[in-house]
Amino acid sequence: MHPFSPAHAPAPSGAGHSHAVPSRHLLGLEGMPRETLFEILDDAERDLARLTVDRSPTDELRLLTVVIAMFEDSTRTRVSFQIAAKRLGATVSTFSSHGLSLSKGESLRDTLHIFEANGADVVVVRHSSPGAPAYLAEQLGSAVVNAGDGMHEHPTQGLLDLMTLRQAWSGRFEGRRIAIVGDIAHSRVARSAIFGLTTLGVTVTLAGPATLMPAEVERLGCTVSASVDEALEGADAAMALRLQRERMEKGLLPSLREYTRVWGIDATRVRRMKADAVVLHPGPVNRGVELAPDVADGERSVILDQVANGVAVRCAVLRRCAAALAQEVA
Ligand code: NCD
Repeated sequence: MHPFSPAHAPAPSGAGHSHAVPSRHLLGLEGMPRETLFEILDDAERDLARLTVDRSPTDELRLLTVVIAMFEDSTRTRVSFQIAAKRLGATVSTFSSHGLSLSKGESLRDTLHIFEANGADVVVVRHSSPGAPAYLAEQLGSAVVNAGDGMHEHPTQGLLDLMTLRQAWSGRFEGRRIAIVGDIAHSRVARSAIFGLTTLGVTVTLAGPATLMPAEVERLGCTVSASVDEALEGADAAMALRLQRERMEKGLLPSLREYTRVWGIDATRVRRMKADAVVLHPGPVNRGVELAPDVADGERSVILDQVANGVAVRCAVLRRCAAALAQEVA
C-alpha cells in the first residue's frame, strides 16, 4: 500500500472550521494565514512557469488517487482539477451527480463508500450544501478539497483570483482596492475572495442590490457602496459576479434589464477605475447582464488568465494535500 493510502491516515479532528482542520484538507480561505496563502501562490507560480513551456506530465504525484465528485454543475473547476491532477501524474477519476433531490446525508453517505473503496487519497467535492466538504472531511481518511459548497466557499477559485490579481498588481496587495459587484449574497466565489483579499491587506468594496447583499458584510470586513459607479471610482480591480438564479428565491430581482442598467459593468463604467485596473469574472459569464461583452473580451479583462491560473493553483493545492498526507503517515 502506498503512503497516501487513506487507510493509513488518522481521522481528522475539529473538521468543520477551515482554520481548525488538518492541513491535508482545503475547506475554505477563512482564517488561512497570509504565509500559507503566499506559499500556495508561490508554488502555483512555479507550476504556471513550467506549464507554459512544458505540458508533459511529471510523475510527482503518481502514487496519488484523486476523485473529483461534482454534485453540482461545473465546467472550469472540474476540467482544471482534472488537468492539474494529470499534469502531476496522479490517477484521476471524475463523476458528476445531479441527485440533488436526495438529502445531503443520504447522497453523501452512499458516496463515501465509493470513495473509500476506490482508495481515494484526495476527494475534490462540489455540493449545493454549505458544509458538505467539512462533513466529508470528518468522515473520510482522505484529504478533502472544497470545489464549491453552496453559498459558503470556493477556496481554489479564491486562490486563483489572488494569483491573477498579484500578477496584475505587480506583486503588491497592500493599499489596493477591489470592487466586487453583483450577487454577493449567493456567491461562494465572493466569500473566498473576500477572506483571502482582506487577509492580504486589500480593501474590498461591495456593490449590488440590497436584496443580494449578505447580512454579514461587517463581519466580512468590507464596505458597501450605494452604486456601481461609486464602487468602481478609483478602484484597482473589479470582480463581476454571475446572478445565481438557481439559488435565488423569487422576487429578489425586478428584471434583468433593470439589473443590467443599474449594476452591470460596461465600458463607460470601467473608465471610472484606475487606468491599469483589471476586470475579473469567475465564469460562467452572462454576457450583457452583469458584464458587457466588450468588457469581457476587452483589454482590461483577465478572465482567461484566471482560467490558466486555475490549473496552476490546483496543482499547488493537490501537491499540498499529498505532502500533508505523506507527513501524517511518516
Ligand atoms: C462559480 C461557481 O460555481 O461557484 N464558477 C466557477 O467555479 N468558476 C461561479 C458561478 O457559478 O457563477
